[in-house]
Amino acid sequence: MDLLRFLLLLVHYKLTAADSDLHLDRDYKAVSDPLQVCPSAGSQPVPNAGAWGDYLCDSPLILINSSIYAMKEILPDPDFILWTGDDTPHVPNEKLGETTVVAIISQLSNLIKQVFPDTKVYPAMGNHDFHPKHQLPGGTSSIYNETAELWRPWLNNDSILTFKAGGAFYSEKLLSPDTQGRMIVLNTNLYYDKNEQTGSLQDPGGQFQWLEDVLTKVYIAGHVPPGFFEKKRSKPWFRENFNKRYTEIIQKHHRVIAAQFFGHHHTDSFRMFYSDPGSPISIMFLAPGVTPWKTTLPGVRNGANNPGIRIFNYDRGTLQVKDMVTYYLNLTHANMVVAPKWEKEYSLREAFQVPDGSANSMHMVLEKIQTDKRSLQRYYQYNSVQYDLSDCDNNCRTDHVCAIREVDFTKYNECLKDRGSVSALPMLTLLFLCLLSGLLRNLWGL
Ligand SMILES: *[C@@H]1O[C@H](CO)[C@@H](O)[C@H](O)[C@H]1NC(C)=O
Ligand SMILES: *[C@@H]1O[C@H](CO)[C@@H](O)[C@H](O)[C@H]1NC(C)=O
Ligand SMILES: *[C@@H]1O[C@H](CO)[C@@H](O)[C@H](O)[C@H]1NC(C)=O
Ligand SMILES: *[C@@H]1O[C@H](CO)[C@@H](O)[C@H](O)[C@H]1NC(C)=O
Ligand SMILES: [Zn+2]
Ligand SMILES: [Zn+2]
Repeated sequence: MDLLRFLLLLVHYKLTAADSDLHLDRDYKAVSDPLQVCPSAGSQPVPNAGAWGDYLCDSPLILINSSIYAMKEILPDPDFILWTGDDTPHVPNEKLGETTVVAIISQLSNLIKQVFPDTKVYPAMGNHDFHPKHQLPGGTSSIYNETAELWRPWLNNDSILTFKAGGAFYSEKLLSPDTQGRMIVLNTNLYYDKNEQTGSLQDPGGQFQWLEDVLTKVYIAGHVPPGFFEKKRSKPWFRENFNKRYTEIIQKHHRVIAAQFFGHHHTDSFRMFYSDPGSPISIMFLAPGVTPWKTTLPGVRNGANNPGIRIFNYDRGTLQVKDMVTYYLNLTHANMVVAPKWEKEYSLREAFQVPDGSANSMHMVLEKIQTDKRSLQRYYQYNSVQYDLSDCDNNCRTDHVCAIREVDFTKYNECLKDRGSVSALPMLTLLFLCLLSGLLRNLWGL
């Protein structure tokens, strides 16, 4: 009996690979002049730059190449690859231009095709895969058209049509013969608060309506996620109305959404979605970046990461995620040796002792992070892919727990308040001052 079940499991569970935020910096050079290393560091000096990259810079080609070959070595024949966007470096628009942006998308698409010639790839556009950056329109554009042609070998003709017709999103049947589900790849850059093309629209590109119409048994993938950045308190990415609509769609259709996969944070985290009574109903996995680039977002402490890639083990029948295994390159170590190795960082099931990657299990992981100091610390080290090994204190715990638990703007703020966080302090201080002034008025008869 048990053996039979085991064999069935073996046949049924398949693997897929995920790759996010490659951010190629073609001008990276490991030179001794700290101001000449990489444009992506801006004006920050980069001392002691190594061959494989630097935490202040976006990825040199050698690092991205190594990550793709590492994927091939770890898993030569995945069911498919999810590639969740952001290919160009963090440099001003003037240093890129449409031609360069498309050339970089082309270069990285070709690299993936060369290493995985027979593998289906589901690519998504990131906010850095456009010129000017973040300004992706909800209508037709030459960059969408050019990108669609680059991705034609991976996508079917209907997807190419939808992609070009305006909005750069598509939906396809998952390839494996015993899978009923579909992959929906969204262009959530349309909801990004830095996107001035779409801010005044109700439903840019008609994507929300389209999503509701195409939902069957699906995975949803995209680049910019809804909700808040766990490394900076009260920092969302979507405009509030788009965040609300997205969340409502997930709540309404959660039964057919097996999981959601996004990037953009460069960190390893996840997001929970709950029903109104508060049962876990959907899960979103956020993939760490390949680029080690330290974010310049003001207020983020220690915002770099080691390069990470990951593999999902999933049930072809139900699409349920069974496990998630992350591999990484210790960049500091890589720069000290000749042939660096990508190592296993952790398996979700082993690290948090949960049966799978379902919404229920991930809710258990969240509870552990919230209540158990060792689980919190473990999660925190995974969050930066072993770059930031410092202690995650109470404030840090609040930032992470509330970001994971509440994608909704109002509920996120309530979560911060409930956890007695410092952002509730100004209110309390004000109250205290009022009381004090009342007291003084009484004392002094003012
Ligand atoms: C990419 O990696 C492969 C495998 O390690 C190696 O053979 C090849 O030379 C690398 N190419 C570049 C451009 O780094
Ligand atoms: C993109 O391609 C579509 C379909 O071929 C075409 O209708 C549209 O005009 C093109 N848009 C641009 C900006 O080139
Ligand atoms: C898809 O479109 C291309 C180019 O327009 C065409 O050559 C090919 O036959 C089409 N494939 C299918 C399956 O319709
Ligand atoms: C990464 O490598 C450096 C240099 O060898 C080492 O000091 C550090 O402990 C390593 N980090 C991890 C998480 O193993
Ligand atoms: Zn990115
Ligand atoms: Zn991004």
